[in-house]
Amino acid sequence: MVKLGVNIDHVATVRQARRINEPDPVYAVTLAELGGADGITIHLREDRRHIQDRDVYLIKEVAKTRLNLEMACVNEIIEVALDVKPDMCTLVPEKREEVTTEGGLDVIQNFDLVASTVKRLSEAGIEVSIFIDPDTKQIDKAFETGAKVIELHTGRYADTKGEEQKMELKRLKVAAAHAIDKGFKVSAGHGLNYINVRDIVKIPMLYEVNIGHSIIGRSIFVGLKEAVSQMKSIINSTLKC
Ligand code: PXP
Repeated sequence: MVKLGVNIDHVATVRQARRINEPDPVYAVTLAELGGADGITIHLREDRRHIQDRDVYLIKEVAKTRLNLEMACVNEIIEVALDVKPDMCTLVPEKREEVTTEGGLDVIQNFDLVASTVKRLSEAGIEVSIFIDPDTKQIDKAFETGAKVIELHTGRYADTKGEEQKMELKRLKVAAAHAIDKGFKVSAGHGLNYINVRDIVKIPMLYEVNIGHSIIGRSIFVGLKEAVSQMKSIINSTLKC
């Protein structure tokens, strides 16, 4: 079964809108897990726009499943990761002006930095994933860093329709097959929702999908436990078809 990682950054975004102590993303961890989440994802950004350092430490204590910390390859955040020791770190590009992570990490352009970050985290016993576009050249370069997991950026697939979307799905399938051949564990994420996730989870041997916006958005209406549970049912029933 494809696993579901739930990104709870948006809970912290709502809290930071008032800079008070609610809603607390720590509460979201338990509800997401009760709904069937296989893992919890948070992104500690350099500008601390949503998740705060305190959240990372508390969520590491509270999560019963797995904690995936998304982060840029910057020393300050690497130090936090080495101290907290999440189960996995996902290396992502980060720009202060972006609304969300806009593209995959360019491992070819930033090879030395990415490779040294993978080494530091791996030596501390943390599994490392790299968030990249579905591009075989990027996958080959990611392989050279020693990372064991890649997360394929599904943003372009999510933003397109019709024939264009079919092409993007094909790119994702080709990239996933290439990465699996190289021995990577392959995940996918960004822009996935209750409809477009169906074709993604059918990608052979996909390990996990990471989903935030659509689940937290739906949780406003149905509650977080139910929103996660609905996503889990879609994933599981799609795979049984
Ligand atoms: N995967 C990565 C690496 C991300 O940066 C994000 C967004 O924080 C997601 C998955 C989840 O994307 P979305 O919120 O669009 O579901």
